[in-house]
Amino acid sequence: MSRPPATGTDRTDRSLPPANLDPDRLPQHVALIMDGNGRWAESRGLPRMMGHRAGVEALKSTLRLCSDWGIQALTAYAFSTENWSRPGEEVNFLMTLFERVLQAELKALEAEQVRIRFLGDLEALPQKLQQLIAEATTSTASNTGIHFNVCTNYGGRRELVLAAQRLARRAAAGELDPDDIDENSIGAELFTAGEQDPDLLIRTSGEHRISNFLLWQLAYAEIHVTDVLWPDFNAMALKEALLDFQRRNRRFGGLDPISP
Ligand code: IPE
Ligand code: IPE
Ligand code: MG
Repeated sequence: MSRPPATGTDRTDRSLPPANLDPDRLPQHVALIMDGNGRWAESRGLPRMMGHRAGVEALKSTLRLCSDWGIQALTAYAFSTENWSRPGEEVNFLMTLFERVLQAELKALEAEQVRIRFLGDLEALPQKLQQLIAEATTSTASNTGIHFNVCTNYGGRRELVLAAQRLARRAAAGELDPDDIDENSIGAELFTAGEQDPDLLIRTSGEHRISNFLLWQLAYAEIHVTDVLWPDFNAMALKEALLDFQRRNRRFGGLDPISP
């Protein structure tokens, strides 16, 4: 991603991970609910749309920080299946913003080896956006850097319904024995197929809910909620989230090791 004054190909401005973070215990996959754009704008007496614009800048710098600090995948919630219920003007603004940002940033994403994918029911998006998504997905598919997943018209329940329909069709056609359906076969039908489950979920703006995000994949994610509004999310806020993650004791249903 470009960050003035450096260009996308100039990596001399790479930022190193903060010294007090343990590089061996970073989450591999961070999921992000970018919330609070509207409140950020309203608190400044600005229209909500300005909050969405500022939110794009926060996403660009967060992606770059994650990549620089050695996180392998970032999955960000950009537009939910429920966000269509917002006023048409806001929905249209967001769709146009996604198009503009994708057009403006594609070269930098390519140069920085980011592999971008869009997760969600993409057929409901405007044609132009669908085209840009297809181009960006294809042109970055063999990139070897961070996996950047943008959830657009994404809903966790919708994702599970689509997966169930596909499995049921294969079973009805005699290609699949229902008894063979297991967690792996369901995971393989999700938009996130091939991606490891997120180990950290960050939600901004102080809301303690997951709002239909990655319902299956977040089964054992650590959850970090910050009061920071998304456009204000910066390196310090990311560092706080990662330090919080490193303080967690992940048991996965088991017990702590007994100390000798
Ligand atoms: C998140 O910010 C962005 C999207 C959901 C598209 P909001 O627009 O939800 O901001 P608030 O929650 O109203 O402050
Ligand atoms: C979640 O934020 C969706 C995105 C960040 C894209 P919302 O603002 O839509 O969530 P709720 O309505 O507060 O649950
Ligand atoms: Mg919100």
